[in-house]
Amino acid sequence: MNSRYDLLYHELLMRDQEHILRFYHELSDGSRKMLLDQIESMDWARLQRLTKEALGKEASVPGELSPMEAYPWDTYSPEEKRYFEELGWSKLRMGKVAAIVAAGGQGSRLGHPGPKGTFSIGLPSGKSLFQLQAERLLNLAARAGCPIPWCIMTSPDNHEETVRFFENHRYFGYSPKDLFFFIQGELPALDEQGKVLLAEKDRLNLSPSGNGEAFLALERSGILQELKKRGVEWLFYYNIDNAIIKIADPRFVGVAAHYSHPIATKAAYKVSPEEKVGILCKREGRPAVLEYTEVPFFLTQQRDADGKYLYGLGNLSIHLFQMDFVERHLSHPLSYHAAHKKLQTVDEAGHVMMPESPNGYKLEQFIFDYFPLADEMTVLVMDRMEEFAPVKNKTGEDSPETARRQVLDVHKRWRQAAGVDTGNWSDDKLEISPLDSYAGEGLEPPAE
Ligand code: UTP
Repeated sequence: MNSRYDLLYHELLMRDQEHILRFYHELSDGSRKMLLDQIESMDWARLQRLTKEALGKEASVPGELSPMEAYPWDTYSPEEKRYFEELGWSKLRMGKVAAIVAAGGQGSRLGHPGPKGTFSIGLPSGKSLFQLQAERLLNLAARAGCPIPWCIMTSPDNHEETVRFFENHRYFGYSPKDLFFFIQGELPALDEQGKVLLAEKDRLNLSPSGNGEAFLALERSGILQELKKRGVEWLFYYNIDNAIIKIADPRFVGVAAHYSHPIATKAAYKVSPEEKVGILCKREGRPAVLEYTEVPFFLTQQRDADGKYLYGLGNLSIHLFQMDFVERHLSHPLSYHAAHKKLQTVDEAGHVMMPESPNGYKLEQFIFDYFPLADEMTVLVMDRMEEFAPVKNKTGEDSPETARRQVLDVHKRWRQAAGVDTGNWSDDKLEISPLDSYAGEGLEPPAE
């Protein structure tokens, strides 16, 4: 027996994970080496700690909850709106804002074979999510007269393909010196008992460890330091799968800079108390996002004097973090959540199988777990139709179909507001390039 095997077997035995070597003796030399390399690269003591923490959590006790103060954009006067917008533009002109996109997820519900950013929601132009986002940023940067650093978080699984996609498309016109790719980490997926799952006889089932890793991974890659050197003050964080995201929105930047809390977030009122999105509120007096299931039913029904649900602020995953705050809290350990998922594994005979229903857990950190570390947060309430078109599922709600419909509806509203006559063209064929308009501006027909 080789001693490397013995050592690792012993380590796994101590952690009650030795089952992952059960097919070892059937494997070729190459596969044996691959599996042992993978096992050796893991921090098994850490994994044991995280597993205990994530799977051992008591059924959620929300603690003392109170509503979060929020500022609806609509309630500002035209002068205030102009002031915020100008303040935001001044930050962009001075290069104080960088964008970070979490694009390391597996997108398993969508089922697209490549990285989600390479997916096209079927707009007439056929543009991918990455291209739509690149063009929005290019539009802003051109008007600001200053480049906007764009940081793309990938996973070990999709990194190469993501970078190749950008190379093959000449970075969509983005200057490579303002484009930063960085890789997040992975953790093994677990079965219902906390045992590590094999994806194949010779390979662990690894998955990216959540979007909450973004800042640490940014720091590990040296990019955070580079942004700091460039004088960046605000990090605009968003998820890759929002087809209508207004990246680095000057209005939002202006509002965040004005109130100057360590974090700002864009929110939208939930359509109904039952809608399945995380809720922004205060927990034990600190900003927090709660699962919709964590808020007691009677609280979900309470309304304010204007009829708005007190606990109806939906989290859209659109945030601005102050650089200082991020640096101060980098070493704060965010907790791990166990997400119940369908995970590829092998059966006792060693056959690869994909279950019909969730069979285990992925361990993930969430970016919003930074919120309670801020004493106060700025919450800007926007019109969700203009801000949030998530692409999560293959069909049905939050699918390419709903996102495409929403983007085209927004473009139609912009055209109508600008008085554009589109003749007999069908709305389904009329798309506005983000290079031409960021948020509906500049579409007015020239005066006769
Ligand atoms: P989701 O929770 O929707 O997960 O991620 P997902 O991986 O994209 O999709 P499913 O659940 O497998 O269908 C929300 C955002 O966080 C990013 C995703 O890319 C998406 O932008 N994310 C998620 C990461 O960047 N890393 C992760 O480890 C997990």
